[in-house]
Amino acid sequence: MGSVSLKIGDGTARFRRTSICSSAVNLLMLFSVVTTNLFALYAFSSHSQANSPLLHSSNNISLVSQHLSLILREIDSSQRKLAQMEKQMLGYESIDISRPNIVPELKLFLQRHQLPLGKDSRTGITEMVSSVGHSCEKSTDLLSQYMSYKVFDRCPDDWSLGQKLILRACEPLPRRRCLAKTVQKQDLSKSPDSLWRSVSNKSVNWSGLGCKSFDCLKGKKLSKECVGCFDLGVEKDRFVKVKGKNDFLIDDVLGLGSGKIRIGFDISGGSGTFAARMAEKNVTVITNTLNNGAPFSEFIAARGLFPLFLSLDHRFPFLDNVFDLIHASSGLDVEGKAEKLEFLMFDLDRVLKPRGLFWLDNFYCANDEKKKELTRMIERFGYKKLKWVIGEKADAQVYLSAVLQKPVRA
Ligand SMILES: *[C@@H]1O[C@H](CO)[C@@H](O)[C@H](O)[C@H]1NC(C)=O
Ligand SMILES: *[C@@H]1O[C@H](CO)[C@@H](O)[C@H](O)[C@H]1NC(C)=O
Ligand SMILES: *[C@@H]1O[C@H](CO)[C@@H](O)[C@H](O)[C@H]1NC(C)=O
Ligand SMILES: *[C@@H]1O[C@H](CO)[C@@H](O)[C@H](O)[C@H]1NC(C)=O
Repeated sequence: MGSVSLKIGDGTARFRRTSICSSAVNLLMLFSVVTTNLFALYAFSSHSQANSPLLHSSNNISLVSQHLSLILREIDSSQRKLAQMEKQMLGYESIDISRPNIVPELKLFLQRHQLPLGKDSRTGITEMVSSVGHSCEKSTDLLSQYMSYKVFDRCPDDWSLGQKLILRACEPLPRRRCLAKTVQKQDLSKSPDSLWRSVSNKSVNWSGLGCKSFDCLKGKKLSKECVGCFDLGVEKDRFVKVKGKNDFLIDDVLGLGSGKIRIGFDISGGSGTFAARMAEKNVTVITNTLNNGAPFSEFIAARGLFPLFLSLDHRFPFLDNVFDLIHASSGLDVEGKAEKLEFLMFDLDRVLKPRGLFWLDNFYCANDEKKKELTRMIERFGYKKLKWVIGEKADAQVYLSAVLQKPVRA
């Protein structure tokens, strides 16, 4: 049908099974197309007979072509309906790669590849499909621009274009066959010195960013979690000194985990300070971040920590029950309907181990309703409240901090 099926996903390649369902859909489609055509033919001939006074002028070309175009339109619309049905039944979204503005490199990437030895007996898979976000369909022009480069040459200087696509839910991005830009100099220090050493301006390529040095970023409020967070002098106090009753100390929280906290996940973790403090406690933390307005990923990596470049709309690329600890603050506050936050919370719950800790750190509640909503949701998950503090700050804003323990569900 001139379109390639895509799957929402997080892997690098997708597999499509030949299932009873898909062959049934194919049969159904074939049947529908045939019956539509027969029906149209029938409608046409009976119509001609009914209008027998016109029949004598059967050489009236314009009448014939009128009927014909009517039939063609009918067939066309039913085919479109069928394509829609197929998509819905298979759960696939499609990018129509027959469109004129789709670049060849994108077509090549999205091409299905039959397995060379036919059906794999273990998995039942017959072909491999490349993975790209289904919402890329909404931004095909940008996507085509992203896929325009010389193969084996340098990639265009366009990381911000990639991030723009991700923010439009075009995630995962397609792979590319070009070489990413490099930075001139990376004078890295050894761990654990790297955790608190200032990062050189030269270890970041600043193109596409407002600031051109770390000094420029120091005083800036980049988000609720990052107020001057590139200033390690200020960051040093976080998690080891309390400024208000909403702040918990790392040692206290680790104490609640009775020494069994070894790996953790930090949501929207700013410049990686939580992971740094945890690294000092021999706990490995992955920091989830995009580069919104600053080189967060480069900075975290330069500290010797693990940045995960992924939006919060993407399902976390971890198997169930892997983390001992999840840390999140206001970055968790996704806009939109309550269901959106629920989807996110269920995914966090999924990757957290039973008896694992969920540390909600200074979550900003815009109003009382928001606080109640959040409390209700947390209670529905059945977490044990090990710490629970609702506090007001100087600006009369309400913040919720909590340490919650995931239950062991039967
Ligand atoms: C053909 O049909 C059209 C509309 O039905 C009519 O207006 C026209 O006069 C007909 N022409 C001939 C040559 O019969
Ligand atoms: C980074 O750049 C700024 C301004 O260009 C400069 O003042 C500062 O000394 C540089 N810092 C380092 C560590 O190179
Ligand atoms: C950043 O990358 C672009 C493209 O690779 C390059 O032209 C530019 O000189 C780089 N800038 C710095 C500061 O390294
Ligand atoms: C972390 O591990 C190192 C090496 O095993 C050990 O010397 C150090 O005491 C540990 N630190 C903590 C806080 O457990």
